[in-house]
Amino acid sequence: MIKLPFFNRKRRIDLQPSTLKLENIPGHVAIIMDGNGRWAKKRGLPRIAGHKEGMTTVRRIVKAANRIDVKVLTLYAFSKENWKRPQAEVDFLMKLPKEFLTTYLPELIEENVKVQTIGDFEGLPSFTKEAIREAMEQTKHNDGLILNFALNYGGRYELVHAVQSMMKDISDKKLQMEDIDETCISRYLYTEKLADPDLIIRTSGEHRLSNFLLWQSAYSELWFTEVLWPDFDELLFEQAVSDFQNRKRRYGGI
Ligand code: FPP
Repeated sequence: MIKLPFFNRKRRIDLQPSTLKLENIPGHVAIIMDGNGRWAKKRGLPRIAGHKEGMTTVRRIVKAANRIDVKVLTLYAFSKENWKRPQAEVDFLMKLPKEFLTTYLPELIEENVKVQTIGDFEGLPSFTKEAIREAMEQTKHNDGLILNFALNYGGRYELVHAVQSMMKDISDKKLQMEDIDETCISRYLYTEKLADPDLIIRTSGEHRLSNFLLWQSAYSELWFTEVLWPDFDELLFEQAVSDFQNRKRRYGGI
């Protein structure tokens, strides 16, 4: 077991009161949490040290999102493609949801957060599934922020899964071909009951979606930062929201 150093980062948000306008807060913010590996490498640490530190950023951003009344926070924690990583890193990443939820579940409950996931749930190891089921059960009546972990998630896989489910329902006579429209397709996605993301944030300087929320991101505002996920903080989160508030969303109109 590698002992990882503890980084005590200054909580800039506590030092500076928020100047964010509390109108036009994005209802659904989704984040591609990228740059953990590079963060660790810069410090001569194993990649998993970056993931571990990234977990503490998750805690901070959940609190920050809840505080400004974001309704849904979707975090890309493990993609369908991430299985290609070295086994030791995959094993570590699979243990993180359990570690996060075991450590912070009381805090999430206290803060009225509801835990959910999107992705191929059955493809996760049983200890990961158990931790998530437990967190979902204990937070199911909470009506504050929905903390939605994208785990074993891929946007194209989600669409394949949706088409298969629709075909099955057609053959079972539960769905008619004529009823298939955009609303219907949205209902067959993992995000079923959630509104589309208003704002998608990606850290670490990469400018792509990497198979994240492909259908749902049709009209999302995209926001990128060079900052690596473990260094991302509440002020940057508020900066992203503030920039979002100044965007003009036209949805193809004028
Ligand atoms: C991408 O960075 C990050 C991931 C694949 C994992 C994200 C996981 C966390 C942020 C930990 C928190 C998770 C939970 C469930 C609480 P990368 O490894 O690709 O970084 P690199 O591009 O610098 O190599």
